Parts: sequence; structure tokens; C-alpha cells
Amino acid sequence: MADRYLTFTGTAPGRFLTRRLGLPQPAPLKRWSPQRPALEGDRLLRTAGKSDLELTDVVPDLTGASEQPAAVLLDATGVRDVETLAEVHAALHPVVRSVAASGRIVVLGAPLDPADHHQGAVQQALEGFTRSLGKEIGRGRTVNLVRLTDARAAGSTLRFLLSPKSAYVSGQVIEVGARDESATPADPDRPLAGRTALVTGAARGIGEAVAETLARDGARVVVLDVPQAEQDARRVADRLGGTALALDITAPDAGGRLAAALPDGLDVLVHNAGITRDRRLVNMPAERWSSVLDVNLASVLRTTDALLESGTLRQGGRIVATASIAGLAGNAGQTNYGASKAGVVGLVRGLAPRALAEHGVTVNAVAPGFIETRMTAAVPLLIREAGRRMNSLAQGGLPVDVAETTAWLAHPESGAVNGQVVRVCGQSLLGA
Ligand SMILES: NC(=O)c1ccc[n+]([C@@H]2O[C@H](COP(=O)([O-])OP(=O)(O)OC[C@H]3O[C@@H](n4cnc5c(N)ncnc54)[C@H](O)[C@@H]3O)[C@@H](O)[C@H]2O)c1
Repeated sequence: MADRYLTFTGTAPGRFLTRRLGLPQPAPLKRWSPQRPALEGDRLLRTAGKSDLELTDVVPDLTGASEQPAAVLLDATGVRDVETLAEVHAALHPVVRSVAASGRIVVLGAPLDPADHHQGAVQQALEGFTRSLGKEIGRGRTVNLVRLTDARAAGSTLRFLLSPKSAYVSGQVIEVGARDESATPADPDRPLAGRTALVTGAARGIGEAVAETLARDGARVVVLDVPQAEQDARRVADRLGGTALALDITAPDAGGRLAAALPDGLDVLVHNAGITRDRRLVNMPAERWSSVLDVNLASVLRTTDALLESGTLRQGGRIVATASIAGLAGNAGQTNYGASKAGVVGLVRGLAPRALAEHGVTVNAVAPGFIETRMTAAVPLLIREAGRRMNSLAQGGLPVDVAETTAWLAHPESGAVNGQVVRVCGQSLLGA
């Protein structure tokens, strides 16, 4: 379903009219393409407080000055008191206006020091700062905060946030742990070469885009969908040189069947299959409740357990589950869906430390906002329009935006990113 409003505001009369009426001004986002793999322009480094971070190894070509930077990286890890917090203002105030359209601001913060509540206060202040700047900056520009201790552990994260691949990720706070044993891929353009990825619900929509993006990154993909969608799954798998697997993920023996279908092991497990059966609780039959909980949560728990316990998901593996902003903020008519997606968040937070310690596997979630798919095309017009505009970028995201975020989490160098829930929502107004 084309976003006609976005097209209209891209024309001169459209811009004039919508500006006069004070209506949202979505800017067309610059997304990744083989022809345009990087943001065009300089990357500026600014520092607030005293920092020990070694950034130049991780983010090359950081400059001190630029007329119109494509990105600004602000190292605020050394901010420990309110006086130094003023340096955040001093560092960004002069440049914020000149950051290019679809540009990036990435703020680097430190973990909160439990022994120093002044440090805790001002590092937390960076969160409010980031989210507020994200809401006002406009022109398709994004603002995110990364809390880290070692820049080398955050290479894949910074590269993602400073690239066109993160076009619809804004207002996020991402924690990156200490340096781990993450593998550096031999070919940076095909980081998943030699790895196998299973994507559930991949016959169409977001799952199809995820399979496509992981295949672009070199993975051998297994495209799973229900038997009724087998033809579409096959079409996707054939196009990507992968294999199709017709399986209802809610089957009680799905975990065992997956393990049997993957005798050579698995590296990336993407739980994407999901359904909605909306009704207000007062009108919701038990069947609508249980079908949503079964697809979106119970089967995710069951298959995760089976693939970890059987050792199918091997050391260095990645699990990416699909939550939703409805699971974070709640949504009228979606008590079942909201519960299931909040459950996914709980699964990620609960399992992540143990899965990493015991299996060497990271567990993270993507939480899409309004993404242009068949699921959202079915939403009534006015609600759909509101969903599209009620975010800082004033437009819906595309399946590829969720897919790129998944590919970053699946990256072999993302081993220090664990237990995170990353919203791909253009900084939706719904939820924190
Ligand atoms: N589209 C959005 O705006 C949005 C927003 C938030 C979250 N999400 C989530 O993203 C995921 C993908 O959404 P989408 O919009 O691409 O949906 P979609 O309906 O287009 O695709 C979902 C796919 O999952 C498959 N599937 C459903 N039940 C299954 C089962 N039991 N076993 C195997 N496969 C099954 C379907 O056949 C379908 O191919 C879902 O988890 C959804 O909840 C979507």
C-alpha cells in the first residue's frame, strides 16, 4: 500500500500546502542499496567530558570539522556530573542544524555506575536528551544512544547506526557489553558466509525481507512457513538459493522436526512468524486468545528450548525474536497480541544471560512499529494513517528496516549485544 501522503509532500505544492497547514513533513529516507552502501558525507567526532574510548580503530574517517556532516558521533562516556553535561549541549548545539538529511547522531554513553549517583543521573540524562533530540531533529535524521565500555565490542553496532541500514531506528538506547570472543568475518560484505539461518514466517512480509537480507549477507537460509504457504516459501527460497520448510510452528513436535531438518546445525534463529486476532477483551473468545499466544509466544519458547537443548543452535549462534511496540505500550483490541509480544520481551531478558553463558548464543528482540506489510494494509484507513504519522519520521517503516536490524543482531561481531529489545519504529509515540 503506497504512502501517497509521503509522495505528495515530496512535491513543491505538497510541501507548501502541508507546511501552511502545519501537517507532518516526512522526508524520504535514504536506505541501503548496493549503489549507495554508506551515508554520503563526513563523520564528525565530538567529545563531552574526559574519555578513554579508542574510536578511530572502530569507526574510520572521523573528522574534526565538516560543513554538512552525514553523521555526528558524540562520545559522552566521560560525563559524570551536571557541569560536564553542559559539554553535550556545547558539542552539538553548533552542528545540529547542519547535519545532512537522513543523517545520524549517535551519542555514546557509559553504563550507570552503581557507586556514583551523580554519574548515574547524568548518564541517564543522556537518554532523555537523545529521545528529545530525536523528536525535534526532522528531515529523516535519527538520534540513538549506545551505552558501552569498550569501543571494540561495539564495532558492528556503530557501523549499523552510522549507515543507511538503520534508517527507521531512532530514539533507541542500546547497551553493548564488554568485549567478547566475537568472530571477525573474513569478508565484511558477506559476514554470514558459511552460516545457516532459519527464519520463521518467511514466505512473505517482514520474514521474507529478513531471509533476503541474511542471504545478501552470505547466509544459507531456511525459509519456514505454514504448509498452506509452501508455494510462496519455495519461491522465496529458490530466489535466495536456500531451502523451504513447510511446518506449522505451533505443532507440538516442531522443535524436534526443526532439529531433524537441520542436521548440520544452525547459527541464526529468527522467530518472525506472528499473527493478530484483534478484539477487545470483552468480545474475545478463548480461541482468539490462545491462537495468538500459541503462535507468537508458546511456539517461540518451545522451539528455542528444543534448538538450544539439542545443540542444533551452536556456539556463536544468534536468536532474534520479534516483539512489537504493542507489547511495550499496549494497544486497544490487542490484549492477546500485546501479552504475547511482551512475553517475547520477557523471554529475551530472561534467557539472554544464561544462553550466552551456557551456549555462547545471544538473544535479542526487534520490536517493529508501523511497518508497511499485508498485516498493516488490512488496518482501516484512518487508523493506518495515524499509525504511519505518529512517529518522529512521520512515515511507516519497510520490512527491510526490520531485516537490516535483524542482520546487525545476527552479525558475528555482535556477540556483546545481548538481551536488547531494539525498536524499529521511527521513534513511535507509543510506549517508552
Ligand atoms: N507489520 C507490522 O507493522 C508489524 C508490527 C509489529 C510487529 N510485527 C511482527 O512482525 C512479524 C511479521 O509480521 P508481518 O507483518 O510480516 O506479518 P505477515 O502476516 O505478512 O507474515 C507472517 C508470516 O508468518 C506466517 N505464520 C503465521 N503463523 C504461522 C505458524 N503457525 N507457523 C509458521 N508460520 C506462520 C504466515 O503464514 C506469514 O507468512 C510478526 O511476528 C508480527 O507480529 C509486525
